[in-house]
Amino acid sequence: MNSSLLVNKATNTQSAIRLPVIGANWKLHKDLAETESFFEKFRSLVDDFGYCEVVICPPFLDIATAVSAAEQTTIHIGAQNLYWENDGAFTGEVSGKMIKASGCSHVIVGHSERRRYFGETDETVLKKLVAALEAGLTPIVCIGESERKNVESVLEKQFRCGIAPLSAEQFAKLIIAYEPIWAIGAGKTATPAIAAAAHRLIRGHVTKRLGAQAANQVRIIYGGSVKPDNAQSLMAQEEIDGFLVGGASLDAVSFAALVNLCKSEEKSESRINQSCNYV
Ligand code: PGA
Repeated sequence: MNSSLLVNKATNTQSAIRLPVIGANWKLHKDLAETESFFEKFRSLVDDFGYCEVVICPPFLDIATAVSAAEQTTIHIGAQNLYWENDGAFTGEVSGKMIKASGCSHVIVGHSERRRYFGETDETVLKKLVAALEAGLTPIVCIGESERKNVESVLEKQFRCGIAPLSAEQFAKLIIAYEPIWAIGAGKTATPAIAAAAHRLIRGHVTKRLGAQAANQVRIIYGGSVKPDNAQSLMAQEEIDGFLVGGASLDAVSFAALVNLCKSEEKSESRINQSCNYV
């Protein structure tokens, strides 16, 4: 379940408690042996995965190993990319149908590194989103500006061209990752206020396109140099529904610390209070 709805009886409006998502984007890191040892250690460091949706996205070749290492847990496995055709003469590509059959539940779409190094555009992002949804995968779609200027127009265009054409039903299955490119791998995290403002902007676009309920329910997660020592203040922002983590997800200890952060009662309670504030 992504989120639950609370109804304000006085105004008959709804508010969502959004289950946080903690995603690991391993990028081009880890072979089979490293994948196995990560899971062995990681599983022993988290005693309850129920406080958030944990999604680990290894390279394609590690997926089968990750899926079996995650058995009997609620850890989800995701891919980092997909192609929009199901099959055919597309050398080197992997389809949503194949990813789903390999045991994945999620897939990252439109990561800035794919846009920058592999020519992905808002148009191809949209095709990939549709293909992922048709395959029954939950897409984690990435948007974000490259420099700290034109933030509004970049996010508006990426949303309008890459995401907004989806139907309400398709949109409901999406997770959006706001990843300012200047913060990725740079050790330069957006401040909680900067990140929250960008999330609010994105949620505002969702409201305009699909209404308040869709905006209330969609998880918008932050990515860009998230580490255990900066995560708490980011997560304390009502707007931030979790993280997509690169570097810090490669180490079982730091990734477990991020997952365990969701367990903090103080945080869960304050989120619930924020979400319930007009019930
Ligand atoms: P980072 O990467 O945590 O290493 O900055 C995040 C991402 O690219 O998803």
